[in-house]
Amino acid sequence: MDQPTAPVPPPGCPAHQAGGRVPLHGREFAADPQAYYTYLRHFGPTAPVELAPGVEATLITDYAFALQLLQDSGAFRKDARRWRDLNEGRVSPDSPVVPLLSYRPNAMFSDGAEHLRLRQAITDSMARVDTNKLSRTTEQVSDYLLSQFGSRGSADLLGDYAKQLPLFVFNELFGCTADIGDRVVFGITGMFDGVNAEQAVGVMFGAIGELVALKRAKPGDDVPSWLMEHEARLTDEELVHQIALLLVAGNEPLRNLIGNTLHRLLTHDAYAHQGGLIDEAIDDTLWENPPMQNLAPHYPAADMEFAGQKLHAGDLLLVSFGAANTGPALTAARKAGSNRAHLAWSAGPHACPSKEPARQITVTAIENLLNKLPDVELAVPSESLTWRPGPFNRGLTVLPAKFTPVQIVPRPAPARKEAPVRQEPIATGGRGERGGVWSQFLNWLTR
Ligand code: HEM
Repeated sequence: MDQPTAPVPPPGCPAHQAGGRVPLHGREFAADPQAYYTYLRHFGPTAPVELAPGVEATLITDYAFALQLLQDSGAFRKDARRWRDLNEGRVSPDSPVVPLLSYRPNAMFSDGAEHLRLRQAITDSMARVDTNKLSRTTEQVSDYLLSQFGSRGSADLLGDYAKQLPLFVFNELFGCTADIGDRVVFGITGMFDGVNAEQAVGVMFGAIGELVALKRAKPGDDVPSWLMEHEARLTDEELVHQIALLLVAGNEPLRNLIGNTLHRLLTHDAYAHQGGLIDEAIDDTLWENPPMQNLAPHYPAADMEFAGQKLHAGDLLLVSFGAANTGPALTAARKAGSNRAHLAWSAGPHACPSKEPARQITVTAIENLLNKLPDVELAVPSESLTWRPGPFNRGLTVLPAKFTPVQIVPRPAPARKEAPVRQEPIATGGRGERGGVWSQFLNWLTR
């Protein structure tokens, strides 16, 4: 491997301020992560990074070593209760990255037989989602969102569309009532916007607890009911945590896959002249600008040497999907025609179990938007767009667009019989909206 002796930090990189560790937080990283990955490759297959002030990790940037780690579940474990720096007080429990990295009793943080059991329940239940119904639901939600801003001739395709659509589709897949769905939307939005995140998590778990009780009493044709029926015989607590995992692991990356693909379509003329442009743009996004940039936290089970590096049991290791995808090894594979060898969905036993439905939702959401707004274009110079800071996800703050105004007509024959007309404020400790956005959607469907 090529290893120049004196790596030069990318413009604005304050690496020297973090004790030689390269900070993957802040505006400079968000503005150009690929410049950081180019720099990080100079350290070799792994690099020392800082995820938030005082939170150190080793980042695997090389494709072959990333695969080795992701596939060796004996040597590298997912259970975050092994995280030495947190256990020994070097990382503050108040750090902004701790909620995402710390242990919860779900498939993502479990190993071995326990992981297999929880994951099987998830994959079998998600496999029961009817693909035709999923397309219909996504189109219905898409039409609703378009009807809210179509006549204006302008919109923020991130806040008004990409962010809302997965939340509504999930509420439908999960059979959420008006009241429960409003609180799920409130909770997840609050968690990812970082506004009162602790309260938002409380609201979300409260709503999921009620959803579990509701489905136990009255099972339906939905993911929570299928999880309950599964031979894994999940307890109520396990159900709450697997449902929360699906909602959290599904919503944020989906929002960003839709947003990053729309961004690509609106900023690269090349797609305008190609057939099958949406599939192509999604693949290119997964390769070059994946929604999850750096994740797959793992902990060595014992002291070891890996990729020429001494590691200790309980060290925090992260895989850089963003760097591995654009490194020399994969770039060669991509040129040779191996179009889906990228790591955007991760790999090994913890790889994303829902890439087919995720892709289907993304294709339908973008296809319907482009069909209804055929002349949609960016409303600001592309250089003025900004990206949300943080080491893990890759997503725009806003995506302002303009188009010829259109009136979107509601679709007939809604799947729902329930007419909610929710009047109560969301129980969030006082500050809720009267009838949340999900209730408004249900009212629109049933009017
Ligand atoms: C329908 C939407 C989605 C659902 C329900 C979903 C669900 C999940 C779940 C349950 C896991 C944990 C699996 C395990 O630990 O065994 C996971 C992991 C993962 N998903 Fe997805 N996902 C969705 C969409 C996406 C999208 C759009 C992306 C980005 C392209 C993505 C990328 C990943 C990655 C990289 C992991 C591994 C994360 C890690 O190991 O830390 N997912 N997903």
